[in-house]
Amino acid sequence: MKALVVYGTRYGTAAEIAEEITKVLKDEHLDVDLVNAKGLKNCDISPYDLLVVGSGIKMNKWTKESMNFLKKNRDMLSNKKVALFVSCGAANEEKTIPEGQAKYLDKIAKENLTNPPIATGLFGGVYDPNPKGLMSKFVNRFIKKEMEKQGKDTSKRIDYRDWDEIRAWTKNLLTK
Ligand SMILES: Cc1cc2nc3c(=O)[nH]c(=O)nc-3n(C[C@H](O)[C@H](O)[C@H](O)COP(=O)(O)O)c2cc1C
Repeated sequence: MKALVVYGTRYGTAAEIAEEITKVLKDEHLDVDLVNAKGLKNCDISPYDLLVVGSGIKMNKWTKESMNFLKKNRDMLSNKKVALFVSCGAANEEKTIPEGQAKYLDKIAKENLTNPPIATGLFGGVYDPNPKGLMSKFVNRFIKKEMEKQGKDTSKRIDYRDWDEIRAWTKNLLTK
């Protein structure tokens, strides 16, 4: 079986998740290609049986390149196994704010895929006390405030990714 893992990222978090997904699939003896949606122009997805497509979330949005990948390949994807994942702050607090799944995965699948995905993965992100870019710094102030309300120490980077969960999710794709 041949798989393609496509990711969109702004700070590198979803890229590392995509790398881990690729590693797990390779360990399971799949023939896997990993690509950053940025800079991807005419990608021929016809050789692939499984496509794992994901993105980091910023201000409620996937990266435009990962969205473009879904939109451009909509017809072709209807004949493939497709799994979607996101890395987002909402997943860090999903037990109290169950909105990430609906907003960042269910809605995206409904709007961009002809058939339901075989799986969706809502994965935690990384909190960076000092993100690059003025806009990110501005938005981060609100994130920081929310985290401080929950008693978190916001002076340090916090990695909310659960690698065991990510690996188990990936292995489970092979049973679908
Ligand atoms: C400027 C900024 C905006 C963000 N907006 C959201 C958001 O709207 N919803 C959310 O759940 N997480 C949000 N986050 C958290 C990111 O989704 C999380 O850090 C993710 O891991 C980023 O993935 P990436 O590094 O692959 O881009 C935001 C983070 C930053 C720095």
